This record gives sequence, structure tokens and C-alpha cells, in this order.
Amino acid sequence: MTTPHNSAKPGDYADAVLLPGDPLRAKWIAETFLTDAKLVNGVRNCLGYTGSWDGKRVSVQATGMGQPSLSIYVHELINVFGTKRLLRVGTCGGLNASVKVRDLILAQAASTDSTIVKDGFGAFNFAPIADFGLLRSAADKAEARGLSAHVGNMLSSDIFYHIEPGMAGYGNLPSHGVIGVEMESAALYTLAARFSVKALTICTMTDCLVTGEALSAADRQSSLKDMVALALDVATQS
Ligand code: HPA
Repeated sequence: MTTPHNSAKPGDYADAVLLPGDPLRAKWIAETFLTDAKLVNGVRNCLGYTGSWDGKRVSVQATGMGQPSLSIYVHELINVFGTKRLLRVGTCGGLNASVKVRDLILAQAASTDSTIVKDGFGAFNFAPIADFGLLRSAADKAEARGLSAHVGNMLSSDIFYHIEPGMAGYGNLPSHGVIGVEMESAALYTLAARFSVKALTICTMTDCLVTGEALSAADRQSSLKDMVALALDVATQS
């Protein structure tokens, strides 16, 4: 069944799907890492592909930026296309000086300033968390291959350009152990919990908001390669 956002047919997606925000990054992942990658979705140019990695079937689907956009693709991947494991691969800003540019953040949990997680919880504050098996696998594999990875709390913000520049927009979150900021994971983890599937976010820290350090374009590409190879191993071996 196709949807307004996805023209794939039943069975077109693998059980495991990598989720970059950027459609061109989805294309790059399919062309650089997957064998026999086939385009399965092109609606709105939000590209999705299925191929294989190390002999195992795996898909990659762009989500666009932000929690509303990601939620549409993820809801449909789970409920229409039967996806069981979702691994977001993205970039994030750094909120703690001990996380260096190029380091990975494995988002153990995702805090948010968004109302998107509140939907349906009434008086409760739901805590969106990663699947422990995927998280453990990613942490073990990152350590085994010598990648610098930090396991911690990520902020999924609806705001990229805060009125207050730099760290001022992040309040008391850094002093409560929130180490990175991106724009998608809290919604991803909430949907995974709602529909009993597994999810994990792995991000490369590209811009440190504490020190102002930023990754160069060349370093960005090589770091992303390490992250995507790690995510593909976690997605297909967990
Ligand atoms: N904020 C939100 N998302 C991001 C950032 C940021 O500073 N850097 C990379 N993704």
C-alpha cells in the first residue's frame, strides 16, 4: 500500500532501516555502502532505498528535518511497511566540552522542547529512551573499532535558531547531563515505544556550542563513513 508520502510497495523495506535526515545522504549511503540498492521511494524527493550490507537486507529512508517530518516517515515505516529496527544516523551540536567534534553520541535518551511527545500522555512526562540491545551493540562495536563514542542524553529541539545565541538557548539541560542537540530523536523513540519496535540514534558531533569548534567539510565526510558503517553493523547484527 502506498501512502501520501511513500510510494513503496509491501515488502519493499527491510526489517532494519537507517534514517538520515537528508535525502542526498540517503542516496550517498545507498550508493556508497549497499549492494544492489534499489530506489523504493521518491515522493517529495525524500529518498528511500533497499539493498544489502554484508549479505543482509537493509534499507535507508530519509526523514527530512525535525520531529513532525520524521514522525510521518517513521509512523508509516512501522505501521504500513513493517519495519522493526530503526537507526537514525545524523549530525548534532555539542553541549558538553568533553564531546569533541567527530565524536559519536549514542542517544541513550532524548529530552525535548517539543509538544510532539506530549500527545496522549496527559499529566505525565514520558521519557523517550533508546532500545537497550541496539544501544549496547553500538557501544560495544564503537569501542571495538576505536571510535570515540559517548552514551548520554540528547536534546531533540524544534528550534535550530534560538533567539539567544550559543549555549543560552539550552537552559539547565547541559548541567543535567544533556550532551548533544539535534531535532529528531525524541519523536523517534516515542513512536518506537508506542508500536513496540526498536530504535537508536547515532550522531556525529559536528558543531560544539561550548567551544565554537566545527568539523571541516572533508572531515565531516570521513566521520560520517565510520558512523554509517557502525550503524549498518548494528542494524543487521542486532
Ligand atoms: N542544533 C540542532 N541540530 C543540529 C545542530 C544544532 O546545533 N547541529 C547539527 N544538528
